[in-house]
Amino acid sequence: MSVSSDAMQKQLARYERIIEISQQLNSTLDLATLLRHIVSAATELTNSEGASILLLDEATGELRFEQASNLSATELERIIVPIEGSIAGWVVSHGEARVIQDVDREPSFFKNVDEELEFRTRNILAVPMKARSRVIGALESVNKNGEERFNSEDIKTLTILAGQAAIAIENAKLFQQSDFMSEMVHELRTPLMALKTSTALLVRPDLPPEKHGYIVSTMQGETERLIRLTSEFLDLARLESGRARLEMSDFEITRLIHECVDIIDSQAVTRGISVQIQSDDHMVMGDRGKLKQVLLNLLTNAVKYNREGGSVLISTYLHRAKANPPMLAVAVSDTGYGISKENQRSMFQKFFRGSDTSGFTAGTGLGLAIAKQIVQGHGGEIWLDSEVGQGSTFYLTLPLVTSS
Ligand SMILES: Nc1ncnc2c1ncn2[C@@H]1O[C@H](COP(=O)(O)OP(=O)(O)O)[C@@H](O)[C@H]1O
Ligand SMILES: [Mg+2]
Repeated sequence: MSVSSDAMQKQLARYERIIEISQQLNSTLDLATLLRHIVSAATELTNSEGASILLLDEATGELRFEQASNLSATELERIIVPIEGSIAGWVVSHGEARVIQDVDREPSFFKNVDEELEFRTRNILAVPMKARSRVIGALESVNKNGEERFNSEDIKTLTILAGQAAIAIENAKLFQQSDFMSEMVHELRTPLMALKTSTALLVRPDLPPEKHGYIVSTMQGETERLIRLTSEFLDLARLESGRARLEMSDFEITRLIHECVDIIDSQAVTRGISVQIQSDDHMVMGDRGKLKQVLLNLLTNAVKYNREGGSVLISTYLHRAKANPPMLAVAVSDTGYGISKENQRSMFQKFFRGSDTSGFTAGTGLGLAIAKQIVQGHGGEIWLDSEVGQGSTFYLTLPLVTSS
C-alpha cells in the first residue's frame, strides 16, 4: 500500500511539474530560449543525463539537431541525421515513441553523433513532436540516470512534453514571421511612396522638361533601395530562422581581406580615404562567402560614415591567446564621426540607422544585423568601440585553425 501511494505521489508531482513547465513554454516566444527550456525540461522530467531536439527542415526534408544539453549551436550545426537509419528518423516517420535500452545492440542507432561529440549514449528515449497532427521533429532523452531504464511513465511524460513543446515552437516561429512581415512592410512603404510621387510628377503635362532627369534619378535610387532591402531582408530572415546553413571550410583570412578592400577601394578613393591592412597569414574556419559579406559591410560602413580624407584600418590579431577554442579577431577602424553611447546599444538591431547618418548616405540598416547573425553562427562575437568625434572600431572573432 505505502509503496503504491509513494509511486502515486511521485507521479502527481511529475504532472504538476509538467503543468508548470508548459505554462513557461507557452509564455516564451523567443525560439532559442524556448528550445533551451524544452531540453532542460526533458532532462529533468525523465531524470536523464541529457536531452536533444531535432526538427524537420520543411524546405529540404532534412532532420537536424536544433538544441542539445551541453552542446553549442555550432557543434550541432554540422550534424544532419538521416531519416533512414536513425532512431529520431524512425520516430519522425512513424509518428510513434521508441525506447532503446541498450544502443550497443541496436543496428539503427546513428553513431556519428557520439563519434563527433565524444559522447557515449547508453540508452535513449525518443518521441515525436506533433503540432496540429503534423510531426515537426523529435525530442530525445539520453542516458537514464543511475542504472535505471526508461519506463512507461517516462514515455508518457516525454510525449506530453513533446506535444506542448511542438505547439510552443510553432507559435514562436509564427510570431517571428509576423514580426518580420510587419517590419518589412513598414520599410517598403517609404521607397514605394517616393516612387508613387515621382511617377505622378512625371506624367504631369506642366512639368518643366529640365526636371525630368532629377525625378528619374530619384526613381532609380529608390528602385535600387527596394532591391537591396528585399534581398538583405531575405538573407536576415533565413539567418534568424536558422534556415541559412553555413558552408564551412578552412581558408586564409588575409587573402579575403585583400579581396574585400579591392572591392571598396574606388569608393574610398572618391572620398579621399586611405585604406590600410595589417594582417599576417591566418587560417580560419568559416563560410567564406558569408564572411565576405560581413567584412564588406564593415568596410563600406567605415568608408561611408567616415569624414572626407579620413582613413580606415583593417587588422587581425589573436584573440585572448589562451582562449579555447582559439579565436582570431578582426578589427575595422575608421576616423569618422563616431557613434554615441546611446546609438551603440541599438547598432546591431535590424533597420537601425543613426539619425545623424541616415540623411546623407544610402543604406538599409540591415548590414550589421546580418553580420551579427553570421558571426554568431560561427561561434564568434561582434562588438564595437567608439568615441564621438574620433571614430569607431568594429571587432569580430572567428574560429582559428591551429596546425596542431
Ligand atoms: N563605422 C561607422 N561609423 C559610424 N556609424 C556607423 C558605422 N557603421 C555603422 N554605423 C551606423 O549604424 C547604422 C547601421 O549600419 P548597417 O546595419 O550597416 O546599415 P546601413 O549601412 O545600411 O545603414 C548606420 O546607418 C550608421 O548610422
Ligand atoms: Mg552598412
